[in-house]
Amino acid sequence: MFSKTKHDQSVMERDIQLDNIPKHIAIIMDGNGRWAKKRGLPRVAGHREGMNTIRRTVRQANKYGVKILTLYAFSTENWKRPRPEVEFLMRLPERFLSKELPELIEQNVRVRITGEKDKLPEYTKRAVEKAVAETAHNDGLILNFALNYGSRSEMIQGIQSICRDVKDNNLSIDEIDEACFTGRLMTHDLDDPDLLIRTSGEIRLSNFMLWQLAYAEFWFTNVLWPDFKEDDFQEAILVYQNRQRRYGGV
Ligand code: FPP
Repeated sequence: MFSKTKHDQSVMERDIQLDNIPKHIAIIMDGNGRWAKKRGLPRVAGHREGMNTIRRTVRQANKYGVKILTLYAFSTENWKRPRPEVEFLMRLPERFLSKELPELIEQNVRVRITGEKDKLPEYTKRAVEKAVAETAHNDGLILNFALNYGSRSEMIQGIQSICRDVKDNNLSIDEIDEACFTGRLMTHDLDDPDLLIRTSGEIRLSNFMLWQLAYAEFWFTNVLWPDFKEDDFQEAILVYQNRQRRYGGV
C-alpha cells in the first residue's frame, strides 16, 4: 500500500503503459505544514510551495492523457484552522489562477470546482468562477478543485434532494438506486476516481469522496506534497497499472 523508499525506487517513465492510464486521479495533497516546519518556515510557506507541485502535476497528468484530476484543496473541516491560515488558503486560488490560467488555457485544461462555493469569500469565488468560465470550452484534462468540500455533507444534501422529490411525488422509493443517488452528488457529471493518491504518510480519507471512491485503487506515499515530484506520480501510476481491478468479481 505504501510507496517504496526513494533508495529502491527505479521508476522509469518508459514502463508506463499509455493505454492504461487511470482516467480519473484524485489527490489528497497533504503535508504542506510539515514541509514548512521541517525548514523552520511558517506553515503557509508549505502551501505556497504546494502550488508549484500542482503546476507540475497538472502538466504531467495532461502529458499522460489523464481525463480528470481532482485535487482536494480545502475541506469543510479546514475552516477550523487559525484564521490567518484560512485566509491564506482562501487567497491561493486567486494567486494560483492569476499566474497559471494562461498556461491552463493553452494546455486545453478545463477548470471545475466541487464544493460549497456559496460559502467561499467573494474574492475566492470570483477567481474560480473566472477560471471556470474562461476554460469552459476546453475539452482536455478536467482540473477539478475540491474546494470547501466534505463528502458527508454532500451525501446528506443528496438524500435531502431525493426526499424532497419523493415528498412531491416526483420520484417513487423504488426508483432510488445507485444511479439516482450518484446523480444528486456534486460530482454527478464526473466518472468516479480510478486512483486515489494521498501524500505525507497519513492513511485516511478525511471525508473525501466516500461514495465515489468505492472502487478506486489507493496509493499512499510518505512524500510531503511540496516534495511530490514527477517520479512519485509515475510510481503511483505504475502501481495502479500492476493492480488487478475486480470490482467485487474474481
Ligand atoms: C494539507 O497540508 C494541505 C492543504 C489543507 C491545502 C492544500 C492546498 C494547496 C496545496 C493549494 C491549493 C491551491 C489552489 C489553487 C486551490 P496540511 O496543511 O494539512 O499539512 P500538515 O498535515 O503537514 O499540517
